Amino acid sequence: MRTFATLFLLLFLSEAEAFTIVNPYDKEIKEESLASVVVEADFAAVDSLVISNDANETVTLEVNPKRSHYCKSVNLHLGENSLKVVGYKEGKVVKEETKELFLTSQVDKEYRYPPKDYNKSYFHNDENEKICSKCHDMSVNEVEGVAFEDITKSNCYECHKKINRDEHSHAPSINWLCTSCHNGNVGAFNQTDNAKTKYSVPDPIEEICLSCHKKHKEEWSKKRFHHEPAESGRCNRCHNSHSSPSEFYLRKPAWELCTGCHKEKIEGVHIVKTFGRKAHPTHNVKDPSREGKDLSCVSCHNPHVSNAPSLLQSESAMGLCSRCHKK
Ligand code: HEC
Ligand code: HEC
Ligand code: HEC
Ligand code: HEC
Ligand code: HEC
Ligand code: HEC
Ligand code: HEC
Ligand code: HEC
Repeated sequence: MRTFATLFLLLFLSEAEAFTIVNPYDKEIKEESLASVVVEADFAAVDSLVISNDANETVTLEVNPKRSHYCKSVNLHLGENSLKVVGYKEGKVVKEETKELFLTSQVDKEYRYPPKDYNKSYFHNDENEKICSKCHDMSVNEVEGVAFEDITKSNCYECHKKINRDEHSHAPSINWLCTSCHNGNVGAFNQTDNAKTKYSVPDPIEEICLSCHKKHKEEWSKKRFHHEPAESGRCNRCHNSHSSPSEFYLRKPAWELCTGCHKEKIEGVHIVKTFGRKAHPTHNVKDPSREGKDLSCVSCHNPHVSNAPSLLQSESAMGLCSRCHKK
């Protein structure tokens, strides 16, 4: 009986200590579609780790006696994700553990609000960084306003390299001037983030954006009408600050972005109201006023500001029609 209990205890111990997921935490809210998985593993109990996400993207990491921590960036999709880590010893499963994460969206209503049991958590404090600094340099080595000649030399690069993985990357991000935005401050809408991470960004972020985009600051301040999400300074509602498939770093193609908040405008009945007229197209045809582009909401509306009501791209509704209809 006693040997049985000891055996059981031994098995239990080896399972408990085989590996620990150091990052991410469980039920974490994410804003970028990435998570860094860091696993502390004991070679005596596991010889390989298999990390996988919901898309079944799988990576196998060989555990060796000389190394304590194993790291891998993993892709996330909108909504609830589960990341699984399985530890093997000589081909047999020793331990399995899952972490649930929720990727929020600024523009899709259904993903804007995570379930109640999820929390926003932050990584960069002295205590968390201490574990990593055995192998990673955790200090900031960027010089304000000076792009890295070799971006792999940024101390942020090794852990965050996937943040600029989309086709178009925004200048300060691709030059690894991360602290130009992540300056450690908070704004009116994220007071609760104060001092939770070294690299917080103020929300609203407009002031930082316009500190580089000075021409826009000047131009926009002179206009009569301002679009609410831009006026409130939340540029990141529509723009991803890091990278995107769009040349304007949009979170979605313009038409999808606009109709996310203005669904009722899809049919285009608001454009030509004269009795008997069909609705005006709002997409899926070429835009005669913009070479090579499709018609979309931004063909007629400025997403930020305008001197005309309804944020029209021209000074008046009549002027607007003649941009595309010449007669
Ligand atoms: C024992 C040394 C060691 C420790 C401790 C360590 N790392 Fe790593 N990490 C590495 C090495 C080496 C790499 C380069 C890739 C590789 O060979 O695994 C790496 C790569 C990474 C990556 C990039 C993975 C990818 O898929 O590109 C991330 C993210 C990362 N580490 C995060 C962390 C975090 C967070 C901590 C602290 C909680 C940490 N690491 C602790 C050694 C370590
Ligand atoms: C050892 C790896 C590592 C290094 C080096 C590193 N980070 Fe991180 N960072 C992480 C991890 C892990 C997270 C948590 C989010 C995640 O899972 O990717 C994180 C999160 C963040 C966040 C979100 C806020 C927070 O604290 O959770 C910001 C912003 C950030 N890092 C910026 C930076 C900047 C700027 C640098 C360079 C000065 C840097 N990081 C260097 C691993 C690292
Ligand atoms: C440190 C300076 C800097 C900051 C801060 C900055 N930008 Fe930029 N941004 C640039 C530069 C330089 C370019 C031109 C090169 C490029 O496209 O990346 C640019 C380009 C852009 C573009 C592409 C269109 C264009 O005019 O070329 C958009 C959109 C944009 N930024 C939005 C933003 C938003 C939104 C913010 C705030 C979240 C912001 N920027 C903050 C420097 C900055
Ligand atoms: C132009 C401003 C800007 C720059 C430059 C920038 N970021 Fe960010 N970053 C933001 C904003 C704003 C957020 C908040 C979430 C959002 O809007 O997507 C954010 C969020 C993050 C997050 C948190 C994602 C999460 O899941 O919660 C990480 C990690 C991050 N940034 C890392 C970096 C790194 C590393 C760099 C440098 C390569 C960098 N950022 C450069 C503006 C910026
Ligand atoms: C409602 C969504 C939305 C918000 C909020 C928003 N933008 Fe934009 N922005 C867009 C769209 C859409 C485009 C691309 C327009 C096009 O295709 O002609 C764009 C283009 C841009 C450009 C490049 C084109 C140009 O006008 O020079 C810059 C720079 C820019 N935005 C900066 C900002 C800044 C700074 C803020 C915050 C003050 C902001 N944006 C807020 C949707 C938005
Ligand atoms: C995050 C949600 C959101 C997104 C995305 C968004 N809007 Fe808006 N928009 C608003 C709000 C809020 C208002 C002000 C209240 C209202 O009129 O509904 C508004 C108002 C407007 C108005 C009326 C302005 C006036 O002065 O009468 C127009 C036109 C408009 N949006 C066009 C667009 C276009 C074009 C896009 C895509 C580039 C877009 N919106 C994307 C939230 C959004
Ligand atoms: C062909 C030009 C054109 C296109 C395309 C277009 N609009 Fe409009 N939109 C107008 C005009 C003109 C008005 C002003 C109507 C008026 O004042 O009677 C307007 C008014 C609006 C208004 C404010 C007035 C109201 O009825 O609430 C919103 C919001 C709006 N449009 C959103 C959109 C969105 C979102 C899209 C894309 C799905 C879009 N528009 C596509 C021309 C266009
Ligand atoms: C940005 C370009 C653009 C602007 C501005 C624009 N249109 Fe159009 N319009 C189009 C395109 C593209 C079509 C579709 C033509 C086709 O199907 O070949 C169209 C079609 C139409 C049609 C025919 C609809 C049908 O039955 O298919 C009418 C009527 C019309 N527009 C009126 C207007 C009026 C009135 C305005 C000003 C309020 C206006 N348009 C502004 C691009 C524009």
